[in-house]
Amino acid sequence: MVMTQKRRSFLKQTAAASALLSAPAVLTQAQGKKYRCATIGAGWWGLNITRYAMASGEVQMVGVCDVDNSRVRQLDRVHREQLGGQYDEKKPYLDKVYDLVNKLSGDEPRKYMDYREMLEKEKPDIVIVGTPDHWHPLCAIAAVKAGAHVYVEKPICHTVQEGRAMVNAARECNRVVQVGTHRRAGVHNKSAMEFLRAGKAGQIGMCRAFVHYGGGPGSPTPDSQPPDGLDWDMWCGPGPLRPFNERMHPKGFRGFLDYANGQLGDWGIHWLDQILWWTEEKYPKKVACYGGRHISRDNRDIPDTQIVIYDFDSFTCNWEHRFYGANNAEKSNIGVYFYGTKGTFHLGWQDGWTFYPNSRSQPEIHEDCVFDNADNENIRELWANLMDCIRTGKRPICDIEIGHRSTNMSLLGMLSLKLGDSIQWDGENEKIIGNPEANKLLRRTYRAPWTYPEV
Ligand SMILES: NC(=O)c1ccc[n+]([C@@H]2O[C@H](COP(=O)([O-])OP(=O)(O)OC[C@H]3O[C@@H](n4cnc5c(N)ncnc54)[C@H](O)[C@@H]3O)[C@@H](O)[C@H]2O)c1
Repeated sequence: MVMTQKRRSFLKQTAAASALLSAPAVLTQAQGKKYRCATIGAGWWGLNITRYAMASGEVQMVGVCDVDNSRVRQLDRVHREQLGGQYDEKKPYLDKVYDLVNKLSGDEPRKYMDYREMLEKEKPDIVIVGTPDHWHPLCAIAAVKAGAHVYVEKPICHTVQEGRAMVNAARECNRVVQVGTHRRAGVHNKSAMEFLRAGKAGQIGMCRAFVHYGGGPGSPTPDSQPPDGLDWDMWCGPGPLRPFNERMHPKGFRGFLDYANGQLGDWGIHWLDQILWWTEEKYPKKVACYGGRHISRDNRDIPDTQIVIYDFDSFTCNWEHRFYGANNAEKSNIGVYFYGTKGTFHLGWQDGWTFYPNSRSQPEIHEDCVFDNADNENIRELWANLMDCIRTGKRPICDIEIGHRSTNMSLLGMLSLKLGDSIQWDGENEKIIGNPEANKLLRRTYRAPWTYPEV
């Protein structure tokens, strides 16, 4: 009975999600004409998305923007491999990016180090935002205001109110904004949801999302001069201007709380998003977080150990991670366990999903993962959904409002850790109940000349 209601409600949600946006959002392309596409933040993941965008055959890359145009910066291996013998490791970084785009599509994108100039000059129809997290809000909001549809990476922002401002901007400008939580486009993730929603695991009262990696204490990396060609001030942008450190860039922003929200904001959002996808509830009512840097001795400042408890009306879930203690005792190091009255369901990544029935006489049920490559994900499907929504005016499967709620799961966990206290969350009004100090952490002060996007 409970499951029948769930199923009905799911169908209702799906229908709502498919409701047409108002007409101006629909971008009609003359047959054969391609969408003008530009990328802001052409690092590892920004180029993964750019490659799938080009592979769709529906876009023309008109611009690539990155604040790092140093010669020492190299393309990530998955991208370098595409260029083979043509790869020139001595070129400035944006020339390497150009070569990749040109080889894969024949397009001749113009190169930029300031996204504002690129938006103004290129007037793209679609913008990919693959910068570090602290830049997502300003870049995505500027892009929709410039008339572009957006594919923005997760987590969508650094503080909660930036996320709400992004949702508002998308709606006011009537643009389609897809968030890069590609697990909602994953084949085994979709069948997992069907399994759970059909009640095959019974009624679920608890979920546990987690990632564990092996590692040790590490050691600090000293600050240094940024390489020639990297605009470090622009990289720091609205965040504090810190001395350059090789641990921060490329990719290392994840380890610094001024620019990201640690493992919870990096891996956590993917799995917490899967829990929000499964449940009919939109947000937790209470959040409590514990953790710290118990082992790490490097110069990052993110917790190496973290446990967050999220209390919903009909279930309780937690997130946990650690950067050490990889082992063979636990069957998987990543994913979500859904604990139901009929058994335990593990939704994983490269290990697909497995259902372990309560009764040992019943066989386990397993489904393998199905990925696109480069990096074991489902960007192709998510990109196709974005294109479909641009054409039809439908809401995308990882719409910005959905991405905002999933991002909030991570941000509220980190907020509770920073506050040193549990919080009660009024998700309708996006306020913390009865705690003015905690509410101050829903936003932050931007470094001038950048201004915080007001709700
Ligand atoms: N959905 C996923 O599975 C997934 C996987 C990996 C990364 N990501 C997300 O992608 C984003 C980028 O991560 P990454 O690993 O590719 O990092 P990265 O460091 O390789 O790339 C980020 C790039 O942005 C550039 N940049 C910084 N500020 C900029 C600005 N103002 N304008 C233009 N460029 C700017 C940097 O120079 C860098 O080249 C992050 O938000 C991350 O969470 C998502």
